[in-house]
Amino acid sequence: MKKKYSVLVPLLCLFTVKAAYCQQSPVTNVGTVTAVKIDQQKVTIKTTNAFAEVDVYTPSVIRVRIDKQPLKADFSYAVVGQPLSPKVQINETDDEVDIVTDSLKAIIHKKPFAVVFYTTDGKLINEDEQGLTTTWVEQAVTTYKKMQDDEHFIGLGEKTGNLDRKGNGYTNWNSDVYGYSISQDPLYSTIPFYIGIHHQLNYGIFLDNTYQSDFNFGASNNRFSSFGARGGEMNYYFIYHKKVADIIASYTWLTGRMPMPPIWALGYQQNRYSYYPADEVMRIAHTLREKRIPADGITLDIHYMDKYQLFTWNKGRFPDPAGMNAELNKLGFKTTVIVDPGIKVEKGAAAYESGLKDDVYIKYPDGQYYTGQVWPGWCNFTDFTNPKGREWWRKQVKFFAESGVSGIWNDMNEFSTWGQKAPDNVLFNYDGHLTSMLQAHNVYGLQMARSSYEGAVEHFKERPFVLSRSGYAGLQRYSALWTGDNRAEDDHMLQGVRLLNSLGVSGVAFTGMDIGGFTGNPTTNLYIRWMELGAFIPYYRNHTALNSKAAEPWTFGEDALDIVRNYISLRYQMLPYIYSTFYNATQNGMPVMRSLAIDYTFDPKVMDVAYQNQFEFGDAFMIAPFESTKDYGKVYFPKGTWYELYTGAKEEGGTAKTIDLNINKLPVYVKGGSIIPMQSLIQSTAEQPTDTLTVHIYNGDTANSLVYYEDDGKSFNYQKGDFYKRTISLNPQNNSITFNAAEGSYKSHFRFIKVMLHGFDQTAAVKLNGSPLKLEQSSFSFLGAAANTDPQGSAYQAESNPVKCITITNDQGKIQLNY
Ligand code: NOJ
Repeated sequence: MKKKYSVLVPLLCLFTVKAAYCQQSPVTNVGTVTAVKIDQQKVTIKTTNAFAEVDVYTPSVIRVRIDKQPLKADFSYAVVGQPLSPKVQINETDDEVDIVTDSLKAIIHKKPFAVVFYTTDGKLINEDEQGLTTTWVEQAVTTYKKMQDDEHFIGLGEKTGNLDRKGNGYTNWNSDVYGYSISQDPLYSTIPFYIGIHHQLNYGIFLDNTYQSDFNFGASNNRFSSFGARGGEMNYYFIYHKKVADIIASYTWLTGRMPMPPIWALGYQQNRYSYYPADEVMRIAHTLREKRIPADGITLDIHYMDKYQLFTWNKGRFPDPAGMNAELNKLGFKTTVIVDPGIKVEKGAAAYESGLKDDVYIKYPDGQYYTGQVWPGWCNFTDFTNPKGREWWRKQVKFFAESGVSGIWNDMNEFSTWGQKAPDNVLFNYDGHLTSMLQAHNVYGLQMARSSYEGAVEHFKERPFVLSRSGYAGLQRYSALWTGDNRAEDDHMLQGVRLLNSLGVSGVAFTGMDIGGFTGNPTTNLYIRWMELGAFIPYYRNHTALNSKAAEPWTFGEDALDIVRNYISLRYQMLPYIYSTFYNATQNGMPVMRSLAIDYTFDPKVMDVAYQNQFEFGDAFMIAPFESTKDYGKVYFPKGTWYELYTGAKEEGGTAKTIDLNINKLPVYVKGGSIIPMQSLIQSTAEQPTDTLTVHIYNGDTANSLVYYEDDGKSFNYQKGDFYKRTISLNPQNNSITFNAAEGSYKSHFRFIKVMLHGFDQTAAVKLNGSPLKLEQSSFSFLGAAANTDPQGSAYQAESNPVKCITITNDQGKIQLNY
């Protein structure tokens, strides 16, 4: 058939006048199915123009691969989940191939090749746009999906804009975007995963292709949503579950979940570009302690290095780095240092020479090294997609272990060079699949973060903390991510909230932004608001640029310090809750910071731009952030009962309310049914809290539970069962609170549990394992702890929350309370 056309077309062109009909279309469609092979859970397909494979990974995850050439051997930097052996039925007819699992039905239409996904009871979830299906324009491949009525989209990782991505298009090409605008695209990272929502249904699509990729959610068209890449194959995973949380769980099953972080990384981190010399670092550390500002981390930016050369210390500024870090450790601080990928080309420099010897630097196709300029001047760049490059980097990380460093901050790893135009033709090993910048660029940052993580695991004696600016899907396995060079502006603070929420939807649970803003100087109110918010952000780090004003908590006056101290102190009291929430992320990928669209997906109000910045912190808290310039704001309460954090005042779900905004207090609410374990105030995680764990329980209409988790916070022993874990649940149907028997070999630090009951107005007594006990009438102030320890008093008069409480022994066995 094809041959005949190739002769016919030029002939027709010679003899007809309408030239337009004679030109070959630059667009190739996937065509119709010509052959089908069914092999247990996989369908292999030949179409007129392509080769395809539809593979059932789990009952809820189906992979679709399409290419113009026979499919290559499988390789991915993102995917770690391998196909399970789910129950699948596959039937072929003249017109289609039907795949049925326990969770969904996929129909592959043959004329043309098009995939349609249904629920098992026949509701349409997602369908290829029949006319456009999957097509190529030169090397770029795109799959078009029919835009469903009232379809909305969330996720896609680090993307600016609204929570609902409908009407917008996005590109993934990791970029260094200093002082980016709040509508800029792309930023530093690529996570080609999104969730579509319509008709009370939701699904996820993950395009695993590292070339520049483009997503269209109805931008400039009302016909389709689409995803595609400028090279490589169409390779996507379709995920269907009834709940967004389960889609995230499946997506993180596929691309991996974060490991348990060291607990110090969940404390407050003090940072600036840059703290030096060593005396200045120590001054900052001592001031934090003197002013009773709890903190765990100090971060060193590029000036700790000798002429910005990697794996060196500037000996003039830091004559004894190991000594300084040991001193910091004694004060309860851990040190994180920055690393950039560029290795200065400098004859005789140890790291540079060793990289040359091990042949780890990126080269042009003619064999010359690629050289680009960054902080140290002309640099070579490690090929992190080469196992040899990663091994070399891992070895270098020993340098940090020897100087007592605990965290590695991977910066500039998009990778960034002055001029921001690294050539396309440089070569990358890509784990044995030699390729160019076009395919390797978007995974460079991920592979650098991976190398740092693996090196740190090897050389640090404890769990490392790794932070990265750039990444690709799956980065959560190695690193936390922060959103780079934001600005000290109100809309950046709010945009930052949406960036982190979107990253959470996209599998990255450990995230942060430069609190206070990187470029520019925040007003005092903006600084306060941002620092308050930071207490509810997974990575709580204050950072600012080289030439901006100091931004440590004491630099905005006494009142600001009081307020900020209150919130940092609250963060430390919340650590048992936060640590348990992180544990949860390691188990099911649920983000720590959550857009309301995760739990209240089908409530249209959560997509409303008026409420889109509201988010949950773990399962219990809802935060409503507003610009620091506002005196009042409108908060939406999704269904259920909500309690204002500071007073315990109740709000009914399904309502919106205008509230007065007071700079002393961030609007925070607790969801009815919540279980919040807290501890006494400490100044760093190196300090032990008292022996009482306070468990706040908020009355609600529906049953709820929390997996409480504890371990030593630093070693890898938890992987061998040395943890303490128990489910705490509230069941309003039978008026019970249950602490399941503890699992694991770790002995809890807490000898007592103080149960604080909020909203249990009618309850006067409880039964503990059957024996009656009278409740004490008490009160609790969430912001009171710091105020009580501050000798100067506090700008904030702590409000208190009426509670009833009881203290019990922390028995390892089951504890049953009936109220
Ligand atoms: C760019 C990073 O985004 C920023 O956080 C850092 O301070 C500077 N590089 C200097 O290292």
